[in-house]
Amino acid sequence: MALKLPFVPPKPPPVEKMKKSITQSEAWKSIFRHSYQDNQRNRALQIVDNVFLHLHPVRVPRHATNYSFTWGMGGITFLLFIHLTVTGIILMFWYRPTEAFAFQDMKALMNDVAFGPLLRNLHRWAAHSMVITVMLHMFRVFLTGSYKPPRQFNWGVGVILLLLTFLLSFTGYLLPWDQLSIWAVTVGTNMARSVPLQGSEGPFSNYLGLRPDNDIRFILLGGTQVGEPTLLRFYVGHCIFLPFIAATLMAVHFWRVRKDGGISGPVVSTKASEGAKYIAEKMAQKRLGQIKGVPATTNGAPKPAAPAKAPAPPKPAAAPTAASAGTPPAAAPGGAKAPPPWLKK
Ligand code: HEM
Repeated sequence: MALKLPFVPPKPPPVEKMKKSITQSEAWKSIFRHSYQDNQRNRALQIVDNVFLHLHPVRVPRHATNYSFTWGMGGITFLLFIHLTVTGIILMFWYRPTEAFAFQDMKALMNDVAFGPLLRNLHRWAAHSMVITVMLHMFRVFLTGSYKPPRQFNWGVGVILLLLTFLLSFTGYLLPWDQLSIWAVTVGTNMARSVPLQGSEGPFSNYLGLRPDNDIRFILLGGTQVGEPTLLRFYVGHCIFLPFIAATLMAVHFWRVRKDGGISGPVVSTKASEGAKYIAEKMAQKRLGQIKGVPATTNGAPKPAAPAKAPAPPKPAAAPTAASAGTPPAAAPGGAKAPPPWLKK
């Protein structure tokens, strides 16, 4: 009779022991600086210790995640820029910016290269989309009044980014080197002829000795008409120069969003904001009253019956006097002072 031994499963590897020896090794600790225990401190550390995540703030105000406020358009524009950079770099493997090859390379890409049309169209459509999304982003910043202090500088950076987006689109348009692109760039750059002080046909060109072979258009084209030097100029501008400046300015743009206190919030109505609004309204009323008094003394018009003394500086919150009220100070007959209208409220 065969001896039946009970089945003994193989011992599992000492996972916990292994895990401990790895996570407590010097090498591990030199890379991962804190544990992943879910608490506030570790959550914050995960963000600030990570080179990519630290671009985000540790805490985000609730309104910043509200898509109906931001439309997410700045983020989408940035995403498209990244997408364009990646697809653009891959396109460079099949494209040579010379008169002899540029058009042929585009033909080859569309007919012979596997997924070539997909790659080209991914780049093309993303470029069109970026022009649209950057304009929508600017529109939303305008609608939400987010260009107001302290965000004026970031609005300025944004305007340069808008121009760079248009220039990227314009320079890319020439690269297929077909009839459409050559003539479009010819028409576009012809406008440069008329730029004041810079174009050969612009105002003051005679005085400055500007000719078609030394004006701003000549610098843009690398010649007096669109040709091979233009293609090379636009290629270098499109692939290196403009994306480099745009990427740098985007870094400044995002940094500045953080420094300006995060994404601007919607106007909220709190007791404090209502109070501030009330005081602002009263001060505006008072100022209007002061201004009303000015012509009476400066343009020769008869002075009002009451002495038009210069009103005292505003005392917004506490115990305003009649003299600081908007209406001319009220030396009412009998010496009684009329209360300022805004005190009656
Ligand atoms: C390549 C172009 C641009 C990129 C990638 C970009 C990206 C962003 C991002 C991601 C934000 C955070 C909020 C959001 O997503 O809406 C933002 C905010 C902002 N952007 Fe842009 N932007 C670009 C162009 C512009 C332009 C053209 C303007 C205006 C002329 C502009 C002005 C601003 C301002 C003022 C803010 C702060 C808004 C706030 O605090 O609510 N940006 N941008």
